[in-house]
Amino acid sequence: MKKFKKIGILTSGGDAPGMNAAIRAVVRTALALDVEVMGIYRGYSGLIDGDIKKLEIRDVSNIINKGGTMLYSDRCPEFKTPEGMAKAVETCHKFGIDGIIAIGGDGTFRGATDLTAHGIPCIGIPGTIDNDISSTDNSIGFDTSMNTVVELVDKLRDTCESHARCNVVEVMGRGAGDIALSAGIASGATAVCIPEFPVDHEYVIQQIEIGKKLGKRNFIVLVSEGVGSDYGPELTKKIQERTGVETKFARLAHVVRGGNPTLRDRVLASTMGVIAVEQLLKGKSNIVMCDRNGVIVPCDIRYALMVDRMYKCKLKDGDLDEFSAEEIANMERDVRRRRESMARLYGISKTINL
Ligand code: ADP
Ligand code: F6P
Repeated sequence: MKKFKKIGILTSGGDAPGMNAAIRAVVRTALALDVEVMGIYRGYSGLIDGDIKKLEIRDVSNIINKGGTMLYSDRCPEFKTPEGMAKAVETCHKFGIDGIIAIGGDGTFRGATDLTAHGIPCIGIPGTIDNDISSTDNSIGFDTSMNTVVELVDKLRDTCESHARCNVVEVMGRGAGDIALSAGIASGATAVCIPEFPVDHEYVIQQIEIGKKLGKRNFIVLVSEGVGSDYGPELTKKIQERTGVETKFARLAHVVRGGNPTLRDRVLASTMGVIAVEQLLKGKSNIVMCDRNGVIVPCDIRYALMVDRMYKCKLKDGDLDEFSAEEIANMERDVRRRRESMARLYGISKTINL
């Protein structure tokens, strides 16, 4: 088995609170096992440019509580080209990097798969607020972003209650409604509009009318950015016109991507970081750390990316050809499980919304 002397760590794609806790866990675990760690700055861009520094134990002090990523992040189109990949592989050889732990989302994992195919074993850790990696119940940053939304919506509710207003609040999540749905339940939203369950404006208006009759003064409508950027502002106008309730629109945007990570994100990130190093040093690669019912298990990256595609109904002809019947059945089970979980939460959000 290959003896690892030096590994690299990078964060890529949109940053997420808890990435620092994962970096710290990777560095401390590797050093404890006598393996050097090289910090690769600005994601795959730093790998191409050689923006790399050795990380010692004190370099990761006082970061477990910090949002963002001390290694910085980037989106790097050049990495997708053969020339970019060749430069990245050359950098690994130059710095003696035997393997890489890449923290990010599905794009980052695609890059990690390519790098593994070019002889640099990689392991992925899911770090994205969107929670849109179907093979894991939770990605690092998701819990913090939901808590931030709840904190902000609680504040909006105070002023809505005083003035008998409605506030339509748009939150990030890319194509996934996870943040809006759970934060909607936790903040007592009257309606949640997410791409997974398209919502008719009429339903929202009807709920507000019923609420008004029941003596309700404040209304919160949570909208996920995945339903489209015009959706929230248009719904805001319509609610005011049709119900007579003064309605404001707020787009929380990147605010929900910053801030100190919650306990849950710190523990998730630390656990995934430790296990990722153990797996890499055991000779495993092309896997992503997944949280399944609270247990961290490794999952094949190809499998994880394909489950995503299946969940998003984006399978193309031939996509499943390389997978066995058993793997396909497992993918279908994973997709079903996730859809059922979303549907259950969505049902809950509707049952207790007034
Ligand atoms: P995330 O990892 O959060 O999904 P991106 O989709 O922006 O974020 O991907 C992060 C980076 O991963 C990209 O800038 C690029 O360098 C790399 N990447 C994305 N998609 C691919 C791909 N199909 N092949 C190789 N590398 C990719
Ligand atoms: O993937 C994380 C995320 O914050 C999404 O929720 C959002 O759609 C996107 O990144 C925003 O990207 P950018 O940082 O490029 O504005």
